[in-house]
Amino acid sequence: MIEARDLTKRYGDKLAVDHLSFTVEPGRVTGFLGPNGAGKSTTMRLILALDHPLAGIATIGGRRYVDLAQPLRIVGALLEARAMHPGRSAYDHLLFLAQSQGLPRSRVDQVLALVGLTEAAHKRTGGYSLGMSQRVGIAAALLGDPQVLILDEPVNGLDPEGILWIRNLMKQLASEGRTVFVSSHLMNEMAVTADHLIVIGRGRLIADCSTQEFIERSSEKFVLVRSPQAARLADLVAAAGGKAEADEAGGSQAGALRVTGLDAPHVGEIAAADRIVLHELTPRLASLEEAYMELTADSLEYGVPGSGPAAGPGSPAGPGSPAGTGSAAGAGSAASGPSAQPAPSSPASASPPQRTE
Ligand SMILES: Nc1ncnc2c1ncn2[C@@H]1O[C@H](COP(=O)(O)OP(=O)(O)OP(=O)(O)O)[C@@H](O)[C@H]1O
Ligand SMILES: [Mg+2]
Repeated sequence: MIEARDLTKRYGDKLAVDHLSFTVEPGRVTGFLGPNGAGKSTTMRLILALDHPLAGIATIGGRRYVDLAQPLRIVGALLEARAMHPGRSAYDHLLFLAQSQGLPRSRVDQVLALVGLTEAAHKRTGGYSLGMSQRVGIAAALLGDPQVLILDEPVNGLDPEGILWIRNLMKQLASEGRTVFVSSHLMNEMAVTADHLIVIGRGRLIADCSTQEFIERSSEKFVLVRSPQAARLADLVAAAGGKAEADEAGGSQAGALRVTGLDAPHVGEIAAADRIVLHELTPRLASLEEAYMELTADSLEYGVPGSGPAAGPGSPAGPGSPAGTGSAAGAGSAASGPSAQPAPSSPASASPPQRTE
């Protein structure tokens, strides 16, 4: 179990982590979500004692990281995939880590096989792709067979097969009763990986709830309708108390409407009563990524002006805080000094799940 209590970290006049409290339970994958600069990596560094908090405390299994005698046997972490000597092989990198923790050489072979790097193990890591480096980092995290795993954006650089592999690995580790804490800024990836979500923005807690709860509370229902008589249908929907607007996602498909306020059978009956031809009538959920972006919109630190999530046509007001854990009012200024530790921030690709009812 990981516990953060009132964790606070300031860099100059920048409050990177702002009185953050949460618990990461064993036996499930906990997704740590937030936009770029939200404070995910900083929080993980504080848990791992790589940085000192201004206030608050973080413990792993009830103890602070600095009090662990052989930490890799208790907690495995992947923060920076490239944090290896480029002239050293993956095998030597892992062997050095194993020896520092009193772990046998055979364990190095085991973790290399687990991450699929046996063949490349004796090549210099400087020539590795980002995905291969991520695998070495994951091997290092697993070396001490720890009960707690902290992974910062582990899908970065992985190909679709690699993403699926790490997703299944995290689920398996959690099913063995381990605590798995994994950060991402991709809601769709976390939706299919995590059982529980902790969402932060500008260093503050926005939501702490099960993934299921997040999906149920955040997803707005609508009905996608396509008809060659869309304008007439839109009028009838409005007359019946619903709202129909052109569906942007419909793109080239003319006559696509997003209907809210009425369910699909009702829309079908309205159309039939007026002998309106329908080409499609599909109950849909708004994309989870869209709901997540609305949730974190107020706490975006870095963004392109005007690129915020516009309310979709016909979509009702955005979701509130699923956990009711307070708002994400801005904290501190956006200015900050140069980062001593570059944060891994390149977005990984994950195919969003098609969410239909
Ligand atoms: N060593 C540092 N010195 C100064 N500022 C820092 C340092 N590390 C982080 N920050 C700042 O603290 C804030 C939080 O950064 P952090 O890297 O924790 O965010 P993140 O949620 O991990 O973002 P990303 O999704 O981009 O990885 C940012 O504004 C960042 O610029
Ligand atoms: Mg980060």
